[in-house]
Amino acid sequence: MSQVIAAAAALKAGHLVAFPTETVYGLGANAEDESAVAKIYSAKGRPADHPLIVHIASEKLLNFWAQSIPDYALELAKRYWPGPMTLILKRSDSAKNFVTGGQDSVGLRVPAHPIALELLEAFTELGGKGVAAPSANRFGKVSPTKASAVREELGEVLGSNDFILDGGDSEVGIESTIIDCTSSAPRILRPGAITKEMIESATGLELETSESNMRVSGSLESHYSPTAAVVLDVEPASGDGFVAMSNVETPVGVIRLASPKNLEEYAHVLYSALRAADEKSLQRIVIWQPTGDGIAIAIRDRLLRASNEG
Ligand code: TXA
Ligand code: MG
Repeated sequence: MSQVIAAAAALKAGHLVAFPTETVYGLGANAEDESAVAKIYSAKGRPADHPLIVHIASEKLLNFWAQSIPDYALELAKRYWPGPMTLILKRSDSAKNFVTGGQDSVGLRVPAHPIALELLEAFTELGGKGVAAPSANRFGKVSPTKASAVREELGEVLGSNDFILDGGDSEVGIESTIIDCTSSAPRILRPGAITKEMIESATGLELETSESNMRVSGSLESHYSPTAAVVLDVEPASGDGFVAMSNVETPVGVIRLASPKNLEEYAHVLYSALRAADEKSLQRIVIWQPTGDGIAIAIRDRLLRASNEG
């Protein structure tokens, strides 16, 4: 039996499976199994009333988890799934409080990583409907973008029946765009690789921009935080870690952690650069934020939170 098939069976039996996605690694449990989902919260040290994203094998499962789905949400699903996009929809009776954090909505995503899809398809063949999975890090910490980082974060708390699937580096490197689809127009709750322009072009609608009252844990002030202090847009001093675009030189004595050549590469390397700073026990990381639109907006969002200035 392949590892992935064995992991799907473990999910069905109520165990945890950490798995690669194209955004970041997730820590999954059967989204219909309350005691399995409870294990996610204790492994992460996460408050139990935070809603989880349910990962599904295909958009065919939308109607199992959600109801009154607006046409624009179906357009988005058709255009960008599998992919780095989570849709928040009015929940069906199948989406219980232990997954939705007691909210009337449910978050759904079809991830694009081949191992994630293989896992979800095998799980669906076993009669499963969806895998609830937050990012596979301890609460408030940096999301893992490789299996070794999952082992560092959660290796000690996972049991012998749980799995960590290795799918290499997560290609995108930052979490999915979360889109609230519970009103007449879409609203971005967390920016990501699926940008405002992409949402508007798929739906023909202008985004809702008024304040939302939905709770998104990624929008807590301190999140995505390494142990080292993150300081934005200042001159780095000797002994500091440093992240900036490749055209910026490294001052003498400064420890360069990443030199991305473009915005996609910036998102891809950011979290492993933050982790590298902690591995080197650095006190401080100076990061020069990328300018521009598109995924730069999502990168700046995570940097503000990592620096606790957000
Ligand atoms: O890329 C991603 O989205 C990754 C991979 C593993 O899929 N997952 C991820 O999960 O980032 P997590 O739990 O770390 O962040 C999910 C966010 C949380 O901030 C949560 O509050 C929000 O999604 N969320 C989930 N369901 C929601 C709902 N019904 N209403 C509002 N926000 C919701
Ligand atoms: Mg997270």
